[in-house]
Amino acid sequence: MAKFQIVKYGDQILRSKTKPVEKITKEIKQLAEDMIETMYAFYGAGLAAPQIGIPLKICVIDVMPDGKRNPVVLINPVIVSGENKINMEEGCLSFPGIYENVPRFDKITVQYLGLNEQIKTLEAKGFLAKAVQHETDHLNGKLFIDYLQPWKRKLVEKEIKRRKKGGDW
Ligand code: CO
Repeated sequence: MAKFQIVKYGDQILRSKTKPVEKITKEIKQLAEDMIETMYAFYGAGLAAPQIGIPLKICVIDVMPDGKRNPVVLINPVIVSGENKINMEEGCLSFPGIYENVPRFDKITVQYLGLNEQIKTLEAKGFLAKAVQHETDHLNGKLFIDYLQPWKRKLVEKEIKRRKKGGDW
């Protein structure tokens, strides 16, 4: 059972400024655990706190490289470098059923605070790099459809409106 419901596109929380986590408390550790559980329950590769209605800089990712669970919790993440921008298809738990190609760095370096209160550096490639960029964007109120060409974005908005009307959003 998922601990949280996922906020869908249209909710203002997805555009809100998030606050940095000041201290790794028991509550933050619990939140991270609950977010991981929620991510798996919805078959996502990542989940950011605003997506469960919490405006804090915390996200969880697991791209399961060899089919095994290996979640990472990123607190206050900052992407410090990126190279080789390519178009990759992606989706988002806040946009169920919508997949679009967006430009992302194929290789990145991200710095973040770990649950052990240590500053960590992670170098990521491919799917993991994409997931880190996607989730870090969420913590800055940015969504993957923001990268689409205006005409394409309009089509996506139209589709969502249609689905909202049908009660399917
Ligand atoms: Co997302």
